[in-house]
Amino acid sequence: MFSAVLFFLVFLAVALLGRRHARLLRGKAYGDMPGPWALPLIGNLSHMFHPDLPVHFLKLTELYGPIYHLRFGNKDVVVLNSSDLIREALTRKWTDFAGRPYSFVANLISLGGRDLSLGDYTPAWRLQRKLTHMAFQRCLRGDMEQIVRNQAQRLCQVFRGYRGEPVDVARDFSLHACQVISAMMFGPLDSSAIKEIHDCTIELVERWSAVSVQVLDFLPILRVFPNAALRKLLSCVAKRDAFVQDMMKKHEESRHPTEMRYMVDHMLQILQEHVADKRRDLGLSPEHIHMAIVDLFIGGTETTAALLTWTVAFLLHRSEIQDRIHHEIMTVIGFDRDPTYSDREHLPYLSATITESLRLRPSAPLALPHVATRDTSLSGFPIPKGTTIIPNLYGAHHDGSKWDCPLEFRPERFLESDDSSSYEAQRNLVPFSCGARGCLGEALARMESFLFLAHILRDFRILPPLSGSLPDLRGQFGTVVHCKPFTVRLLPRGADSAA
Ligand code: HEM
Repeated sequence: MFSAVLFFLVFLAVALLGRRHARLLRGKAYGDMPGPWALPLIGNLSHMFHPDLPVHFLKLTELYGPIYHLRFGNKDVVVLNSSDLIREALTRKWTDFAGRPYSFVANLISLGGRDLSLGDYTPAWRLQRKLTHMAFQRCLRGDMEQIVRNQAQRLCQVFRGYRGEPVDVARDFSLHACQVISAMMFGPLDSSAIKEIHDCTIELVERWSAVSVQVLDFLPILRVFPNAALRKLLSCVAKRDAFVQDMMKKHEESRHPTEMRYMVDHMLQILQEHVADKRRDLGLSPEHIHMAIVDLFIGGTETTAALLTWTVAFLLHRSEIQDRIHHEIMTVIGFDRDPTYSDREHLPYLSATITESLRLRPSAPLALPHVATRDTSLSGFPIPKGTTIIPNLYGAHHDGSKWDCPLEFRPERFLESDDSSSYEAQRNLVPFSCGARGCLGEALARMESFLFLAHILRDFRILPPLSGSLPDLRGQFGTVVHCKPFTVRLLPRGADSAA
């Protein structure tokens, strides 16, 4: 017993001294970059588990300025809270910050680190992103808009079926966003298969975000203990992998080079061409395609759904904006035809409303963490290779030095008659992040949010369930910022209301 206590005390003393030494070294490594004092071993981990992390990071700028240093367990982290800093890192010095930090958990759930969103900046990853981007572009040129319009019309039908009863629209948005990706990726599927992949995607993100899973990345010692949350996550991953493998196999067997209909067919074809060319062999494999498919489902479901849900929540609070958008749509389109994506140039108020929702509630408020691929610098501070960088997009969008009344929902800020103010507002906006790791689905997300909302706001008046019972606008922050659940009544307008 005595020797165990002695061992523990010696271990603690060495750890504390080691920490102190490391801190002195770190002080030099990061110049005079400010940041809170770090505890031995765990560093500033208590900050990481703050429930409103992006808001908390923004608050820390009052003490430390827009760039500061934290230590999470064994990881050095630098948080960027302004659009200038985010653009300096991710656009101007994009190669220096294109990496992703190693994550034990991400490795476990991505066929051994073959992930697109969380994969590090390696030659195989660059090819994986290029291949996915090319397949995406081919679909964009094809019938992507038709898929989104069909889905918007189906959503309106579902809404009509509610007959004005109070409903929570968040799940419908999520399911229909997932259906768009599914139709684009695999073509028509029956509704039970879509529901299966949708529910699995949602469950996976939820289980992956659990504190008891996330902490494994920062305190490796905890990996030796049994972990029920991790076990559930892995069983969800097994379900996901079986679904994706089955779909890939079906498309591999039925694919014909002259008839490439769906995104997975393009991806498999590009992979085949690549593998055939031995000179370019960078280790790209079917597992990379598998994980890219998974990431498009994960990346494109809850983010787009959150944006649509937030827009509805803001419009409930500001019914005069809802009426103005309906009026704009009726003037330009009316009920005789359905909205198309090219209408966006003629519907500036709707476009500005979507942009303002993205500013106030950027769906992925802390983007995804980046890592410095080499020794570099930011705003004059040295940044050693391996430092994790967190771009606080929410912080940049609430930066009081850049935005007038940053907490107010004011679409007009993107419609300033003075061109330079409007340009300045767009420049300070980074909802899809930027640079080499910027959102791969930005074009689809923009098209989807515009077409869904143009259909809904033309066809329905959205009301709270009872007069005055409005949604809580404080966010629930995770990888995605969600609105707390709320219900609405969808009353058909115009031609529909007479039917
Ligand atoms: C409103 C909707 C969306 C928002 C606000 C959004 C935002 C973001 C952000 C902030 C990132 C992180 C970029 C970084 O690490 O710097 C990201 C990454 C990503 N997004 Fe989106 N996204 C949206 C919709 C979509 C859609 C529809 C898809 C695909 C169907 C998609 C696929 C991806 C992928 C694959 C990545 C990883 C890119 C990489 O690591 O190279 N996203 N997104």
